[in-house]
Amino acid sequence: MDIFEINGPVRLSGSIDVAGSKNAALPIMAAALLAPGESVIPTAPDLVDIRSMETLLESLGAKITRDETGLHLNTTVIDNPVGDYEIVRKMRAGICILGPLLARCGKVKISMPGGCAIGDRPIDIHLRGVKALGANIHLESGYIVAEAPAGGLVGTQIFLGGPFGSTVLGTDNVMMAATLAKGTTVIESAACEPEVADLANCLNAMGAKISGIGSPRLVIEGVKELKPITYPVIGDRIEAGTFMVAAAITKSRLTINNCNLDHMLAVTDRFRQIGVQVEKTATGCEVSMDSFIHPADITTQPYPGFPTDLQAQFMALLALGEGNSVITEKIYPDRFMHVAELNRMAANLRKEGPSVIIAGVDKLIAAPVMASDLRASAALVLAGMAAEGKTTVQRVYHIDRGYHRIEERLNAVGAKIQRKNI
Ligand code: EPU
Repeated sequence: MDIFEINGPVRLSGSIDVAGSKNAALPIMAAALLAPGESVIPTAPDLVDIRSMETLLESLGAKITRDETGLHLNTTVIDNPVGDYEIVRKMRAGICILGPLLARCGKVKISMPGGCAIGDRPIDIHLRGVKALGANIHLESGYIVAEAPAGGLVGTQIFLGGPFGSTVLGTDNVMMAATLAKGTTVIESAACEPEVADLANCLNAMGAKISGIGSPRLVIEGVKELKPITYPVIGDRIEAGTFMVAAAITKSRLTINNCNLDHMLAVTDRFRQIGVQVEKTATGCEVSMDSFIHPADITTQPYPGFPTDLQAQFMALLALGEGNSVITEKIYPDRFMHVAELNRMAANLRKEGPSVIIAGVDKLIAAPVMASDLRASAALVLAGMAAEGKTTVQRVYHIDRGYHRIEERLNAVGAKIQRKNI
């Protein structure tokens, strides 16, 4: 098992390139199922979650290869429309094969995903959406079995809102199923995340007819077939935000390439409140921090609100703020596994229901800590770079799910992180 040993505090400088978006690439890989033939994603990141999705698609019959031109997905033959428990339990995004397989094969059996470290992650809204398109659904030994009616799926008007707002992968699933349905589908309360828009743009390039992209009302006119495509996914705004926090927490200056600040308005707004300077450049942004860390209140929300996937990283930053901050989690009210670990590093954080009250401290002190989920582990790496002494982060496999060789990329700009296999 790999661990990180992080020596801090460090100053960073230089430039860092953001990889293609994990959460855009995963559903776009599933979208390749809609079009028999070879699709290519030139900018697919090389991550454990992407490899799990490759394994899942291969188990359905697809052939997948990677070379210097990108990730090649050949979906000419899809003869086993079954999402196996062993694969889906490792990566919940596996659920986004539901819509494409239903549209292409008329039947799909997929393991019901379980809960995970960030809380319950139900899929009731996904099922409600595909049911509205005419699918028949039942449960069989922990598997969802969904079948399209004899004449295929039929477009309709669907409200996809839930208790926590819109759903990203739920919108993806219903939108993908609707591209090949008969007639027009209207999704109300669709997720507006840039990754959902990227999928919609990709589907349109494949021949779909989707309008309202990026808005909560998507209109999808069904078409007879889609064609395979070469489609580069957008830069990963969560990875970009993580590197921006790296600059801020180490009081450094970094140039971040391949990120679109237009996707990060809520994030840059909070950075500026905290005293971090963020300047747009042709390819991304320059981030610098030369003041003290001002306290700030943050509430996570569906896009365009502040993303839950940057909540843990901002908590590490505000732990060093001059004053009190409050972070409220409105998407996953239990996504606070990092709180106890940051407190082990001398932070002063107190959880109160879905909020954490942060009393800023002068310094963080290195300690052995445990990664619990992808973003929580990123927060611990950030805290380790600012803390005094040697921080050891266990269970680094969580971070490898979503950041490719993060230690090498941060070391290239001045961090001191060693990966060790123990
Ligand atoms: N929800 C329901 N019912 C559903 C679906 C969702 O109640 O059927 C609830 C969820 O429990 C949550 C809220 O709705 O409270 C939003 O969840 P959403 O469905 O949008 O999450 P997701 O699509 O499963 C994606 C990202 C997550 C990210 C969330 C929120 C991918 C592969 N995953 O998950 O990313 O946190 O949207 O933005 O796109 C990560 O990258 O670390 C990660 C967890």
